[in-house]
Amino acid sequence: MLEVAPSILAADFTKLLEEVKTVENAKFLHIDVMDGHFVPNISLGTCVFQNLKGKVQMLFDVHLMISHPEIYAKTFIESGADYLTVHLEALEESKTDVKEMIRQIHEYGSKAGLAIKPNTPVKDLVDYLEDLDLVLVMSVEPGFGGQKFMKQALDKIFFLKQQKIEHSYSYLIEVDGGINDQTAKLAAQAGCEVVVAGTYLFHSQDRVKKIKELEAL
Ligand code: DX5
Ligand code: ZN
Repeated sequence: MLEVAPSILAADFTKLLEEVKTVENAKFLHIDVMDGHFVPNISLGTCVFQNLKGKVQMLFDVHLMISHPEIYAKTFIESGADYLTVHLEALEESKTDVKEMIRQIHEYGSKAGLAIKPNTPVKDLVDYLEDLDLVLVMSVEPGFGGQKFMKQALDKIFFLKQQKIEHSYSYLIEVDGGINDQTAKLAAQAGCEVVVAGTYLFHSQDRVKKIKELEAL
């Protein structure tokens, strides 16, 4: 059983609410925030999604691909993030205390997630696992939708699942990038619990059915 997080990056922004309504049977709504600095693309800010709050029933899963997430965390939470995920690499770059960042995200009223890029070892997360509500494993280089799933992500998912079982941790294991029915199945087999899907869902006409199929994996 998987949960699905449709990524609005692949939606038609000229009719965003309508688009989001077509995937409302999913539990999460994945919102990719890019700053053109941490990743080589610029996507959207709070003004794009804050007005969706209250109009759809999904949990807002905000993925910050930005430098200095410590400066912006509060604003994104006030704008509707239910889960706020920041990149470990961005915190290391700004020399921000990771545990303190997680504590602040909780204090501002959101669940806390940490994400890692494909080249970051999963073991870099071990000190923080006990505090987290979500761990996001990137299965593509962050920045763009429509890329090919990198299978190295599966080992990381497997490791996170083992750690979770061994220590009774409570985080959700999420994978992001290149998800379709086949890669989602591999991720589920490795222990993944939430799949982000952009292109696969929004470039399809039968989105409700595709979400149900992914959930059944
Ligand atoms: C990539 C983003 C992803 C992206 C996934 O940097 O974090 O969430 O929207 O898109 P697909 O599903 O098309 O790979
Ligand atoms: Zn994402």
